This record gives sequence, C-alpha cells and structure tokens, in this order.
Amino acid sequence: MITQAAPLRAGVIGLGVGEKLAEAVRAHPHAELRTLCDFDPAKRAEVSTRFPGVPVVADADAVLEDPAIDLVCIASHDNFHSAQTLRALAAGKHVFVEKPFVLDEAEAIQVRDALLQRPGLRLSSNLILRRCPRFLDLRRRIRAGELGRLFHLEGDYNYGRLHKILEGWRGRMANYSAVHGGGVHMADLLMWLSGERVLEVTAWGNAIASAGSGFRNLDLVMALLRFEHGAVGKLGVNFGCVYPHFHKLELYGTEGTFSNRREHALLYRSRDPAQLPEQLTGAYPGTHKGELLANFIDSLHGLASPDVSEADVFDSLSVCLAIERSVHTGQPVRVDYLWEGRP
Ligand SMILES: NC(=O)c1ccc[n+]([C@@H]2O[C@H](COP(=O)([O-])OP(=O)(O)OC[C@H]3O[C@@H](n4cnc5c(N)ncnc54)[C@H](O)[C@@H]3O)[C@@H](O)[C@H]2O)c1
Repeated sequence: MITQAAPLRAGVIGLGVGEKLAEAVRAHPHAELRTLCDFDPAKRAEVSTRFPGVPVVADADAVLEDPAIDLVCIASHDNFHSAQTLRALAAGKHVFVEKPFVLDEAEAIQVRDALLQRPGLRLSSNLILRRCPRFLDLRRRIRAGELGRLFHLEGDYNYGRLHKILEGWRGRMANYSAVHGGGVHMADLLMWLSGERVLEVTAWGNAIASAGSGFRNLDLVMALLRFEHGAVGKLGVNFGCVYPHFHKLELYGTEGTFSNRREHALLYRSRDPAQLPEQLTGAYPGTHKGELLANFIDSLHGLASPDVSEADVFDSLSVCLAIERSVHTGQPVRVDYLWEGRP
C-alpha cells in the first residue's frame, strides 16, 4: 500500500517519449525516479546526461524485477508493451503504459485478467489529448449544452509523418497498426467528449501513400461509427497524408458546430453566413506528454482520481479492435467492450 508520505518509486522503460515520462516522475513531489532503461546504447548515453544520478540500464528486467520499484512506465516499442505490462503486474507493480497497450484482443484479455487477479494494482495509459486545453474547454462547453445535442462527430488523426512508418521501428514491425497507434487517440477523444460509446463500426483502408515502400500494413483507415444514443461519426487514421501532424475534429450539435483549426478552433452558433463563428483560442496541443502520468501518480497516492481509468484504456482499445476487424472482414462490426462490467 502506497502512502502519501512514501514516494512512489518508478522506473521508465524506453527513452523516446519515455524521457517525458521520466521528467514527470522527477518533477513529482511524491515520486522518485529510480531507474531508466533503454536497449539502445546511444540513447542511454544521451539521456543519462540529463538525469544525473539516475541509473540508466540496458535490460528491462532490471526495472521489471526490482522489488524497490512500485510503478513501471512503459514507453518501449509497441510489440513489447503487453509482455512488459504482464511482468510488471505479476511482480506487484502499477503500470503506466504508452498506447497501444496491446496489439490484439488476446493480449488485451491477458492484461485484463492479470488486473482482475490483482485488484490492488492500477493501470493507465497516455491518452494525452484529454489534457489538451482546447479540448478540455470544448468538453466543458458540450457539458454546458452550448452545442446542443451532438448528432455527428468526426475525428481524423492526420499523422503527417510518413517517414516514421517507413524508416523506424514502426515500419519494421510486421503488424504495426495505424489504428491502434493513432486511431486510439481519436476513439478516446470522441467518446470522452461526447460521453457516448461507439456501438458499431464499418471501416475501409488502403496503403496507397506508402505503396512500394516496404511498409506492410494499412496507412489509411476510415471508419464510420454508430454511437449509442443515435449520433453517427467518422474516425480517420491518415498516416500518409501530406499535412502537418494534426487532430482534425468536427463536432456537429443541434445548437453549434465545433471545428478545430491549427491557430484556433471555430464554434459556429448560427446558420447565417453573416454571423462569424466564435474563435476558441485554448492551447492546442498545449500538453506535456508526462501530464497524465503525474495525475496517475496522484491517483495512486489517493490525491486525485485517474483521468484515464482502466475502463477508458480498454474502451478505446475495444473500438480500435472492432475497426481493425471491420477493415479485414469487410463487414460492420459491433464493439465488444472488453472491460464491460468490471470494476
Ligand atoms: N501518447 C503519446 O502521445 C505518444 C507519443 C509518442 C509515442 N508514443 C508511444 O510511445 C512508444 C515509444 O514511441 P517513441 O515515439 O518514443 O519511439 P522512439 O523510437 O522514439 O523511442 C523508443 C525508445 O525505446 C527504446 N526501446 C524500445 N523497446 C525497448 C525495450 N524492449 N527495452 C528497452 N528499450 C526499448 C528504443 O531504443 C528507443 O530509444 C510507442 O508505443 C508509441 O506509440 C505515445
């Protein structure tokens, strides 16, 4: 049992975005950064200069097996996430794992069952768009009724970084999924904003933008969504677009329409072309990648509730699994919520 007096001892595996997680642990008043890990010697050498006094190890076992670590932050490549999560849970550690926390349904069920066997342990994931000030403002406005009743929601993850799936580890993975890697952010965002779950999806995809590159998976997936209270939507994952990284978001309600733009968002309250939309100037993306981890640490100390619960982590993954299944079967697929009915 972690008490507020005792700092939570954390290790971080993978020091790309994981370095941001390490910064968040180091900055947290109730946490201690115990170990950093990366299997790339150049990365270890580079990052160690920024974390003087913190051991930087090559082997993830040194984190996963250290009895003096309470929390494992996993920011390794996607194909290691589920095994490292399972090992951390088996060793009695809480887990903050980058998305996607698993690659398929079988892995998700293993993680779910491991969590259910250890009710004292918590898991969260870095669904960081929940901390974007502009989207937090939008969510407050939706809750206050400013958009009326939502009836159509569109979210596109315009990755705009084709090189990352052609050249890096994403391109080398046999089963890298753009839906799990990027679409999960939009699935979570649409459900978190609307407060509605997706019941059913129908999706198509292609790999035209990466054709001839050696990338073995779809770089473009478009899914139509049916929400539980009648709204419909579209979720797009567009890894090959000639477009700077951007979360395209359009929400249509009976009283207003939200449209995200890079500099500011627009909120239309009228159908009259003479009425200019309101400019919403909240920061976008405006987040530090370690913010949700800081909140998770707070929650482990009983100082806050987690912004991203286990149910949230499994719900967004469940939508992505349905999208993947629809693309590959060519059929509409009902979402099977893997955390349904769990605490
Ligand atoms: N939540 C977000 O907004 C966000 C943003 C970027 C990346 N990510 C996720 O973070 C993860 C890492 O992505 P990245 O962009 O930081 O990649 P990266 O390649 O920049 O960094 C990953 C680092 O982890 C190391 N590593 C990988 N597997 C390891 C293992 N098993 N043991 C030890 N070291 C290991 C690599 O050597 C590398 O230095 C991915 O799952 C990605 O989806 C999430």
